[in-house]
Amino acid sequence: MSTLKILAFAGTQRQASFNRKLVRVAARGAAAAGVEIVEFEWSEYAMPLYDPDLETHGFPESVLRFKALLAAHHGFLIGVPEYNGLMSPLLKNAFDWASRPVPGEKPMVCFKHKVVGLVSTSPGVFGAVLGLASVRTLLTRLGAFVIPEQYPVGEAGKIFDEAGDLRDPKQKAAAEGVGARLATVLKHWPEANATVSTNSAAGSKA
Ligand SMILES: Cc1cc2nc3c(=O)[nH]c(=O)nc-3n(C[C@H](O)[C@H](O)[C@H](O)COP(=O)(O)O)c2cc1C
Repeated sequence: MSTLKILAFAGTQRQASFNRKLVRVAARGAAAAGVEIVEFEWSEYAMPLYDPDLETHGFPESVLRFKALLAAHHGFLIGVPEYNGLMSPLLKNAFDWASRPVPGEKPMVCFKHKVVGLVSTSPGVFGAVLGLASVRTLLTRLGAFVIPEQYPVGEAGKIFDEAGDLRDPKQKAAAEGVGARLATVLKHWPEANATVSTNSAAGSKA
């Protein structure tokens, strides 16, 4: 089996994003369990708001590259910001575009049988658990397997140190645990290699 690669990202472009910090903690747990972690910048994949008429005229080049990026990874580790009880519009838009097949493509190539781990945080006490749940629903519908282990954690403004790590060892273990579990499931996932396309895709090793 080739090296298992997980695309780790937060659903935000916000410079000081709490969810980016959290997903990086989880990603360290996955890396320690022996998988490769890849990150990317949303600014390199700027997509217009999904519009069926746009699609009719041809997929934006950024969408094609984003689809290739997803397709090139065995799994995803996602930090989910919550906006009004749902995932961020950035994530929803990107997933909507990626769910659309280019002519001749099999349905859901970016998502089918991918293995996904979710973490979330927000300044509130519930830690964006509703946003997290909305991503679970969406990705499950698209054919991904979202592992049951997840970690929503509240009070985002207080829980990270200056280096972006979780201060509380128990919280840190919980976040790393989601990443580690994702890596473990992937190692035993029968469809792991069948889900990965080797078409060129950007992203950088974390
Ligand atoms: C339009 C909007 C709606 C929001 N709705 C929620 C919400 O429903 N629940 C919540 O916990 N936080 C909510 N927040 C606060 C975000 O969780 C907070 O801005 C968080 O820092 C975003 O994640 P990030 O730090 O990764 O960018 C909302 C923020 C905005 C701008």
